[in-house]
Amino acid sequence: MEKVSFEVLHKDIAARIGRLELNGKRIETPALMPVYNPKKPLISTKELQEEFNSDILMTNSYIILRDKELKKKVLKNGIHKYLGFNGLIATDSGSYQLMSYGNVLTTNEKIIKFQEEIGSDIGSFLDIPSMPDAYKPRVEEQLGTTLERAKEATKAGFVVNAGIQGSTYLDLRKRAAKNIGKDFELCAIGGIVKLMEDYRFSDLVDIIATVKKNIPSNRVVHAFGLGHPISFSIAVALGCDLFDSAAYALYAHGNRYMTENGTKRLEELEYLPCSCPVCNKHGIGLKELPDEKRIKELARHNLYVTNEELNRVKEAIREGSLWELLSIRTRAHPALLEGLRSMLKHKRWLAKFDPIRKKSAFHSLGFEARHRTEVVNVRSRVKRVPSKNMIELKPFGKIPAEISDLYPFHSPGNKIADLDKVRAIMDYQFGEGAGELIPSKVRIKKSRKTKRIRWIYEGKELIASVRASDHFIIPKMKLAERIKEKFKAPRNRVVIHDDAIPFVSEKKSAFAKFVTGIDPELRPGDEVLVVDKDDNLIRTGTLVLSPAEAKDFNRGPAVRVR
Ligand code: GUN
Ligand code: ZN
Repeated sequence: MEKVSFEVLHKDIAARIGRLELNGKRIETPALMPVYNPKKPLISTKELQEEFNSDILMTNSYIILRDKELKKKVLKNGIHKYLGFNGLIATDSGSYQLMSYGNVLTTNEKIIKFQEEIGSDIGSFLDIPSMPDAYKPRVEEQLGTTLERAKEATKAGFVVNAGIQGSTYLDLRKRAAKNIGKDFELCAIGGIVKLMEDYRFSDLVDIIATVKKNIPSNRVVHAFGLGHPISFSIAVALGCDLFDSAAYALYAHGNRYMTENGTKRLEELEYLPCSCPVCNKHGIGLKELPDEKRIKELARHNLYVTNEELNRVKEAIREGSLWELLSIRTRAHPALLEGLRSMLKHKRWLAKFDPIRKKSAFHSLGFEARHRTEVVNVRSRVKRVPSKNMIELKPFGKIPAEISDLYPFHSPGNKIADLDKVRAIMDYQFGEGAGELIPSKVRIKKSRKTKRIRWIYEGKELIASVRASDHFIIPKMKLAERIKEKFKAPRNRVVIHDDAIPFVSEKKSAFAKFVTGIDPELRPGDEVLVVDKDDNLIRTGTLVLSPAEAKDFNRGPAVRVR
């Protein structure tokens, strides 16, 4: 039974901006859950809601359970009333205390029941976080217990934030991911806080990638305790959707001032590299405030920069510039650069999720450019385009001059006949030989203003248009039929269930839940043929998900049809 609704709004690399809905409340992901400590809150829930726009927070059910007075109060009216917070409330189970102190005074069954009783929207079972590089037989044993506890949690009365453990052992992470990913809609990558604190970004990347490769792509992925803004761009690029931060408060207690590029010791600063309301108000005077006041103000600053970085990452997804942001961020520290190198090892997998065309231009910002997902996708597509006019274009390698107008090349200025251009773009988009589907007698019309190819007519009939922004060809039905005849199933196709046919005509979308088959070589942003089970062409449209997502997701559109 589905408890959450999760759909994708925007994509870049394996990142997504998503819409997550549960218990009648809707949030956008990637989202930050500030951790609220009910015993020593630094920032009130009212402030979280009104000043920081938090629509989801995380608190600890074990801390509440262990305090008689607090427990009574929270049980009386439920956690939302007690905290005075009407957004989503996620609770942790005491696993963190288990990790820090070696034991806890509750059981999996009890803490699950307690989270139900207090009305958590999202709860956790008592997973056992293993430390990085811990003795492997011990990690295996702990993972065994975690997976047993996960089974007990499948019947919980809340959305389960299901912990995936396995320390730094990727085979164990894989086993855990397969197991948890099967049963839970919200998968949490656990036991990674120490990796973040120790700047072990390369290990962190391998763990996130291993987990993501072994769970269905529609699972909401929470990076447990990964609250430092320095890690957001890389974790989101790999497909993480939720973060929780106790760090904003813990760092404040340690007089540590967060920035998107790392942590500074407040007492060592002479200038503040931030103009959040806190830094604006106090200036460098922040460090002279009395202890209690300073800690609170520092926590507020830390939370401001944390939110700001997550917004920056989201904007980068929306405009398709997440690689550029990664290039900038990972120059802040050699350990981040190692994380970037690790990410490049996973480029072929990442490339399957990456849109084939983006709003913003491709900017090469370092050695990583030639390993980027756009380049992986371009290299395999260019093989479809036979040409005698190959030109060297960094960092893409040899590309046919005929398609140099296209995203991501944007390198016009060669003297190629319009018909040859159009045919080569057809090959590039739909496969070798697609260009022949444009007869030589066509009339190619250009925009008066930009002088760029915009429309292709056969006689009086418009058979395709060319999108101004990226020069991709949008075939009309007549040309789409020819593409279908030329390329056998499943090439260039998204197959939908019969039940969806009326929707497709009406709603302008083919919804992911009706997708029964798809060409695995397609990429988000591709123009596709929407067909029924008997391979009849129903519509054409733009694919908005990757093939894996189109199959896995049950919500939201897979194809925007024309
Ligand atoms: N908080 C930080 N890391 C973890 C983890 O691995 N599991 C749980 N339940 N909470 C955490
Ligand atoms: Zn600030």
